Order: sequence, then C-alpha cells, then structure tokens
Amino acid sequence: AATAMAMLAALAILVLMPSARGLSRAEFPPGFLFGVATSAYQIEGAYLEDGKGLSNWDFFTHTNSRGIDDGRNGDVADDHYHRYMEDVEIIHSLGVSSYRFSISWARILPRGRLGGVNSAGIAFYDRLIDALVQKGIEPFVTMHHFDLPHEMETRYGGWLGTRIREEFDYYADVCFKAFGDRVKFWATFNEPNLFTRLAYVLGKYPPARCSAPFGTCESGNSHREPYVAAHNMLMSHAAAVHNYKKNYQATQGGSIGIVIAMKWYEPLTNTTEDILAARRALSFEVDWFLEPIFFGDYPREMHELLSSNLPKFTSEEKSLLQKNKVDFIGINHYTAIYVKDCISSPCDLKAYEGNALVLATGERDGVAIGKPTAFNGYYDVPEGMEYIVKYVNQRYKNTPVYVTENGYSQHSNNTMDELMNDGERVNYLQGYVTCLSSAVRKGANVRGYFVWSIIDSFEWTYGFTVKFGLYHVDYETQKRTPKMSAKWYRDFLMGSRPTN
Ligand code: NOJ
Repeated sequence: AATAMAMLAALAILVLMPSARGLSRAEFPPGFLFGVATSAYQIEGAYLEDGKGLSNWDFFTHTNSRGIDDGRNGDVADDHYHRYMEDVEIIHSLGVSSYRFSISWARILPRGRLGGVNSAGIAFYDRLIDALVQKGIEPFVTMHHFDLPHEMETRYGGWLGTRIREEFDYYADVCFKAFGDRVKFWATFNEPNLFTRLAYVLGKYPPARCSAPFGTCESGNSHREPYVAAHNMLMSHAAAVHNYKKNYQATQGGSIGIVIAMKWYEPLTNTTEDILAARRALSFEVDWFLEPIFFGDYPREMHELLSSNLPKFTSEEKSLLQKNKVDFIGINHYTAIYVKDCISSPCDLKAYEGNALVLATGERDGVAIGKPTAFNGYYDVPEGMEYIVKYVNQRYKNTPVYVTENGYSQHSNNTMDELMNDGERVNYLQGYVTCLSSAVRKGANVRGYFVWSIIDSFEWTYGFTVKFGLYHVDYETQKRTPKMSAKWYRDFLMGSRPTN
C-alpha cells in the first residue's frame, strides 16, 4: 500500500506541477521573446507576381538547377504569399511572442532604386505585419536574408561593387519608412558570414563565385572576393544603421542589429595549437563581422593570415562603423564541431575553414561530438549554446543577444510517421533551450529565442530534401500539419492554457 501511495503521489506531482513535467517558459525572465523564424525566398513563392522583380535566387535556381539537390526552386515554395493568414494563425496558435521573417528586396524594389517602389509588395508586408500586430505577435524583420534583386548583380556587380551600399541603404530606408511604425526589431543582414562563404568561396549560392584556395573549386576567382563582398556588406549595414539611428529610432523606438551564423568550435585536442585553432575558427566566423562593427577593424588573426586579401577600412568607414553601434546581436546557432590546427601540421584542406588554416571535424577518436542530424556536418551539442552566448557577451560589451535561429533537420526520405513523430527534434530543442536557460540564470544577456522554422521550406542548395519545420507541409496540397515538436513548443510556451 505504501508503494501504491508513493506512486500516486509521484503521479499527482507530475500531473499538477508543470515544472515537474519539464522545462517551461516561466524559467525565463518576463519579456523574453520566444518565436519562430522563416525567410522570404524559402517560403513565399509567388516569384513573379504583383510586380515582383527577379531575385538572385530566382535567376540561380532557374539557370543552375544542378546546384540544388532535388533540382527544385522557390517559385512556389510554401505559397506563403497567398497563405500568410493561415500561417499567422499557426504561429499564433503556438503562443509565441514574436515572428522573425525577412522582406524580399526584389518584391518591394524590383530593380533597386532604378524602377521605384512596388506598392503591391509594400501592401503584402503591410498586411502580414498588421495581422501579426493584431494578434500581439512582435514582428522581427530581416532585410537581407540571402536574396537581392538580380539586377543588382548584373548592373552593379552585386556585393563585389561599392554601389550596392547606397542601394541597400535606400532599400532599408524604404523599409523603415513603410513598416517602422509597427516593426520594432530590425536585422540588416542574416548570416553575411555564411552567405559570403557559400556565394564567393564555395560557389554554391548565387552569384556562384569560386575562390576556395583548397581545391573545392577549380579555376578559382580571386581569393579577395569573399572579403570584398563582406566589406561591402559591413558598410551597407553601417549605412542602414546610421540612417535608422539618425532619422527613425527616436520616433519609432525600435532597435537594430545584425544576425551572424555561429557554430561553437571545440579544440580537437588540448594542445595549444588546437586551442588557438578553435579561437581562430571563431574569429574567422564571428569576429570577422562583429569586430569591425564594434571596434572598427577586422580581427588580428584575419590580418595575419590574409594580409593583402583583407580589405582595409578607411578612416571614414571606421568611424561610420564605430559611431553606429548595434542594439543587439542575433546568433544563429545549430551545432558545434571539433577543430584541428593546420599550421603546425598540414591538413588536407577542402572546406572553407581552410582560409583560417583549421580543419573542422565532427569526430574525435571515432566518436562524434554529438548525435548527427540530417544536415551535413550538424550535430546535436546543446552545451554549445551556452558557450557561444558567453563568448559573444564577453567580447562585445554584454550587448543584448537574441538567438535568432536554432532548429533540427530531418531528411525528406524519412517515412511520414518519422517526420511527424519527431521526438528527436523535441529532444534537440529541449536540450538547447535548457542550456540557454542555464546561461540566462547565470547572467547571460539573452533576450529571445527563435526556432527555425515554423514550417518546412526551401532549404537553399538542399532544395526540399531537408526539413526544419515544426509543421509539415504537403507540397501537393500545401496543407500544414503540426508535428509532435509543434505540440511540444506550444506546451512549453503555454502550458495547459487554451489557445485563445
Ligand atoms: C540558416 C539560414 O538563416 C536559414 O535560411 C536556413 O534555412 C537555416 N539556417 C537552416 O540551414
């Protein structure tokens, strides 16, 4: 009888106390933003509707379908352009406080400054933003999430030219003017570090320039290109931040920042060489953008290894950067990886980490750093979340951080049952959120967390073969269905409260 009583008591605790059932939103400070994220090209479709111009991705997928695993493209994608109301409903039903999405530059300025503003494009984002605000969901808006009007490439040389800086500044101004009364969170760029590497080192994203010095691209373009593109992105960012701070922030009361892709790099061994290599890998990834933004110059390690391939900041550029501090840093964090030094003993360098003279590897003595996911080179290593947040807080003046993306991928060749009963995604998210909560408890300055993504979508070069959604999308019917992870997130956010 005593055992039965004890079991009953345990059961009562489990049923009655939400905290005993696991993690909940209540463990985070009030006002902490919880959200879900997407980007325009990956979900919108309607690639040529209502006056939208062709983007770099429209052009790339149409002319180079071999560059996409399943040969598909974002012409229709999740048809979000027509189904945004349904998507806002779904987002709302989870109980999130914020939705991170991006604006398609080519939808509102089809030819950049040349052709003027496409009012139908503005109207679309107006409707979307209004629908969100009406439901009490904070819009968190990215201006450049890998896509730009194709004409920027053909006419101005894209990110390799300096003209793009004024074009981006103009585009950002149109956004602030049109949406800034309702949008209080602006990110200038999403993952410019990852983008420039894929677009200008590995030739995998448009404009498919190949400058990998380590054999992934034959007959390469200049090794300077990724750094020139990054330089122009940094100065475009600075111009937009300057404009926002000078002309909009006081009246609109929002904040502006940038989103950087950040893995956690763990030394493969505890030798000084590998410890320095892991530091170098972080510098080439994180500090490449953040040191100029905060301190006006590239990191020392980059100067040392890249010498004349690294552009120099003029004194005006330095002061524009330093005068216009970001209000927050967005961290997209998915994984951690081991790093081995390649200066003291040469490696067979194939990956883009080659520029930092490091080799990234998922295994140590045959044991993986974490459980592998369907995404090439991504492992489930939740502690990385705490480490990366700390790294950024410490180096960048404790500036507020938002984890703007974190999520788990499945491969489309899983059975429907496996896709829908995504316990592994639940474990992954739970692990990362737990580590984040522990960082916050220890005083980390983190203000929000976004799951990538609310729905399955076009995953760039992977096409539709990789699925990150909390909701499954049937591409024949466009029907959205919640996976187990959507229910988990909803429970985490709302406990047993009813939806409406
Ligand atoms: C990085 C990018 O911001 C997003 O576009 C992509 O889909 C996810 N992370 C997953 O790879």
